[in-house]
Amino acid sequence: MHHIYKRGDERTKETLLLLHGTGGDENDLLPLADMIDPMANVLSVRGNVDENGMNRFFRRLSEGVFDEEDLIFRTKELYDFIDEASVKYGFDRSHVVAVGYSNGANIAASLLYHYERPLRAAALHHPMVPRSGIDLPDMSGLPVFIGAGENDPICPPEQTEKLNKDLTKQGAAVELFWEQQGHQLSRGEVDRATLWYKSEVSGVDPS
Ligand code: MLT
Repeated sequence: MHHIYKRGDERTKETLLLLHGTGGDENDLLPLADMIDPMANVLSVRGNVDENGMNRFFRRLSEGVFDEEDLIFRTKELYDFIDEASVKYGFDRSHVVAVGYSNGANIAASLLYHYERPLRAAALHHPMVPRSGIDLPDMSGLPVFIGAGENDPICPPEQTEKLNKDLTKQGAAVELFWEQQGHQLSRGEVDRATLWYKSEVSGVDPS
């Protein structure tokens, strides 16, 4: 997959996996990584699906309706890519923290729905429920931040609540942050995600 890898400070274990929104690319979320953890390694990936010239991480049938077969295929593709990148670049596979926005948050959530411990933690900005009606893996203690907009027309509040419920039921430690806004990624939300990261991820050694 097209990507950027930036090696961080030697003393840090964390690698931030950046996943852009529809129509974005691997450059979009680089400033976020600088805000959340300027010491971390960064693996920023471009989605492999082209929707009328817009990059995405998986196909959709219409707005908010996902192509499940492609979602499963692309989730595995990303999962395998993270494994391969960890070998190539020598980062710790067990310390990968996803930071995703919109379509990127949805594929990060899909990793959590389909694999056991695919990530050390996840910051999901404006995510939706990736799949329904499947058994989900154990997520005991997994730190997840969800940033949501009360007036988000693309990720309506019911989706956010359902995602929160699914993850919490599997044992994830979810921090849900609402802003009075729509689908855009706000500075306030990123600041809260940064605080969450400092208290739940970089300051805590899971081993
Ligand atoms: C999706 O298709 O993943 C969601 O609708 C969010 C987006 O528009 O990218």
